[in-house]
This record gives sequence, structure tokens and C-alpha cells, in this order.
Amino acid sequence: MAFATALEKAEMIAAQFDYSDDELRKCVRKFLSQMDGGLRERTPAMCQIPTYVTRVAQGTEKGQALGVDLGGTNLRVCLVTLHGDSSYHAVHSKVSLPSRIMLAYEAADLFGFMAEQIEALLRTHCPDQFGVSENVAILSLGLTFSFPVYQNAIDSGILLRWTKGFDIPSVVGQDVCELLQHEIALRSLPVKVTALVNDAAGTIMSRAYSLPRGETRTTIGTIFGTGTNGVYLEKLSEISKPLDGHFDESSGKMFISIEWGSFDNELSVLPNTEYDVEINQFSRNPGDQMFEKRVSGMFLGELLRTILAKLYVDPTVRLFGGIDANTGLMTGNPIPLHTRWAVDSSILSIAEFDGTDNLETLRQKIFDALRVPPSSIGIEDAQVVKIIAHAIAKRAARLGGMALGAVVTKTEQLGSVGSRSQDACVLGPSEADGHQPCLVDVGVDGSVIEFYPRFEVYMREALRAVDGIGTAGERLIRMGLAKDGSSVGAAIIALVAAQQTYEAP
Ligand code: BGC
Repeated sequence: MAFATALEKAEMIAAQFDYSDDELRKCVRKFLSQMDGGLRERTPAMCQIPTYVTRVAQGTEKGQALGVDLGGTNLRVCLVTLHGDSSYHAVHSKVSLPSRIMLAYEAADLFGFMAEQIEALLRTHCPDQFGVSENVAILSLGLTFSFPVYQNAIDSGILLRWTKGFDIPSVVGQDVCELLQHEIALRSLPVKVTALVNDAAGTIMSRAYSLPRGETRTTIGTIFGTGTNGVYLEKLSEISKPLDGHFDESSGKMFISIEWGSFDNELSVLPNTEYDVEINQFSRNPGDQMFEKRVSGMFLGELLRTILAKLYVDPTVRLFGGIDANTGLMTGNPIPLHTRWAVDSSILSIAEFDGTDNLETLRQKIFDALRVPPSSIGIEDAQVVKIIAHAIAKRAARLGGMALGAVVTKTEQLGSVGSRSQDACVLGPSEADGHQPCLVDVGVDGSVIEFYPRFEVYMREALRAVDGIGTAGERLIRMGLAKDGSSVGAAIIALVAAQQTYEAP
């Protein structure tokens, strides 16, 4: 049971997470300037990686391919059959990544593990592919590698740095497609890595493939999961840094992976509380991915835990009963409340979701996630958790909206709608060609946006505050979840790369 001042203290901390419209607009300006810088310089922190994907899926693509998605938490393998009519059939396998793999010493530990999972899926679903050495069809594979990998071509890229919970130093600087192909060859699997894909790009492709014909195609993909990122369609004429690999230039465009997790690493405009400072200090990559550390699932639970652990030892608050009054010491093994990185972000979703008077569901979650004894979790303690969780998540969503708003602004897809009335846009000239006018279609994926109840609502609030978007523009931004889109999207990109039959967007 917390002291009476606990709620006041919680409100004071929550206020530190307010992120005003003015701050947001300042961030948009810096975001746009870093986007421009990334199109000129090869690898600044927010490195605007060329994806070598130059067209968006139309739904008419056909064939079978594999998608392998190395995310922040899971490895997914899927065998996708595209029917060419916006529908597909997919068989999946999913394993959560053990930390011995995420922090392995040798590249082979990770890539061998991936090849084993591919082999297991093929043995289950394509047994005919084994045992015959001739006339076996080679399957194309799209590798979704959700880390900053600088692409030199559609099927090759060098890992710049690890993010999220990964750290296998020997892979940095190496071509991740070659490493996987090597392990595939060791197992004599009939598979060729034909595309390297960022998860946000995969999300775009799977969503675009599934949209009905004639619908405005997806041009932006965003991930709000363990990590965060955005991919968007850029004009080739805007990309002044060298594009080394071959690609089809006829669309005049290319998808760019922004790597927005590293927006404003120097913290000139991002909000920075004492808790953000602490998270950064104890992270695997201090000074890096500073935007991600305020927005993505890997960090939101830890931000909350850090604050709650401080309130536990604060004698004026004594959250969950606080430190033992007699000894002033905690006894026994540290519970997750006192263990760094032990709490994931799902507690924030439950805190937002539970609107009951006694906060029963949240109190149960506090027990499950923080392992605080149930007798120490009063209603007021749960209210404290709710207030702070809300503040952390709302700031994250508004920051996410800021980034999306900057990207929409950069692509100029809304034209001047932000300064026009809604009617002017709906009745605008593009209606005649059968497309919905001015619509910007955004594919989204990731546990935070999928499960945090009001993430999109707060993102939209932020979008309305962006100069040039406003209320009229925000209504024209359509967001759609492409669940597990990155693995399906990777398979689509791989197939299309192998067949080279992209159609114009
Ligand atoms: C990575 C991105 C990825 C994002 C979402 C970030 O940590 O740097 O490449 O797209 O996480 O998974």
C-alpha cells in the first residue's frame, strides 16, 4: 500500500512525459532535415538505407517463396504461395530467440540456427524437396533482417550495428545474406536468398499485395514493436548518395528504410527525462537509437519499471509498501521490479485497458510481471502504475505520430490539403481516375501498435499538430495492420526480385 502522496508524485512524474505540440513541430523540422541529410550522406545515424525495391506489390504477383524474419524477439519462417488475386496461403513456424543466440560469439550460431528452422519448415511442408539431388526447384528466400543493414543491392547488405537486445560483434561489417546462404549451402537446402528486406518494407509489400485492386497502394510502412522504424517511397531524383547495385529505374522511385530509431541521437530536440537518461546509460548501445528508446516495446516496460523501482524506495511514497521499515533493506532474490530489463511493455497495455474502479486486472498483471506480493498491491499502487504507464505510452505514440507526420510531409502526398478544407480534397481532380483522392496508405505492424489500446489515437492526435497536415490531412492518412506482414512481405519481395516482374505503382 502506497502513502497518500503517491498519486501526487505519480502525476508529477507523468507531467515530465508531456510532449507538447510545439516540441513536436520542432522535432518534425529536425526529422525532415535528418531525412535530407541521410539521402546525401552514406551512413549518418539516421541512415536512410536504399532498399533497392522500386515498386509496390499490386496483388497480381504469383508463385511460391520463403520469408524468414529475424525480429527483436522471434524468428519466423514462412512458406508463402501467392495466388495472384491479392490472396495467399502461408504456412508459418515461429520460435522465440534464446539469448544464447542473440548474444552469440560466432555468426554461425545465429545463421546456423536460422538455417535449421528453414530446414525444419521445409521438411514438414515440402518433403519432396529432399533426397533427390536433381530437378529440385530452388525456392527464393526473402530475409527480413530488422537491424540497420546497409544494402548494396536487393540481395546483399552489410550490418552497420546491432539494435534491440542483439549483440554478436563478429557479424557487424559482414554481408548477412552471404552468411545465411553459407549455412543454407552447408545443409544442402534448395533455397536461394534473393532479397534482403527490412521489416517495415515487408509490411508495405504484404499490405499492398492484399489490398483490393484499384485501392490506393501502400507507400509507407511503420513498425512499433520491440524496435521501431519507417520505410517510405522516395523519388530517385532526391537520393544524391551513390546507389551501388543494379535496379530497375523505370518507376523513378525507391523505398528507403529511414532507420528512425536513431533520430536525434544527439538529443537536441527529443524529450529527455532523468529516467530516459538512466535507460540509455544501462542499455547495450548508449548514445544510439535514442528515438527508439522512447518509443519501442523493448524500452517502454523498462522505463516504467525504472520509475516504479524508484517510487518503491522513495520514503515519501513507499509504493507497494516500500522498503522494509525496520531494516531498510530488501531481502531475498531480486524480483522483476528490481531487475533491469525484466519487464516487457505488455503491462502498459493492461494499465490503459483496465478502466475498472478496483483495477483488478492491472493488479493481477503487477503481480505477474513485477512479482510484487498481492497483499502489497493496493488500489492506489495500481493507480500510480496506471498514471505513469499512460504518460510513457502516450509520449511514445505522439513521438511515433511525429515521425510518421514528418514522412508524410516529406513525400508531399497530401499536396496542400493540410491548409485546405476536407471538402476541397475529397472533390479534388484525382477523383476522376477512380482512385480515392489524396489518400496516404500506411502499413503498420508490431506489438506496441497492435496491443496498446490507444496508440493510434495518440499518433493521430500528433499528426493533426504537424504543420501542413492538420485535421483535414490526418483524416486522409489510412493506417492498416499488416499482421506478421514482414515475413509474408519478404517472401513477396524475394519472389518478385527473382522473377523481376514488378508492375508500376
Ligand atoms: C532496427 C530497424 C527495424 C526496427 C523494427 C530497429 O531496432 O534498427 O531496422 O526496422 O527495429 O524492428
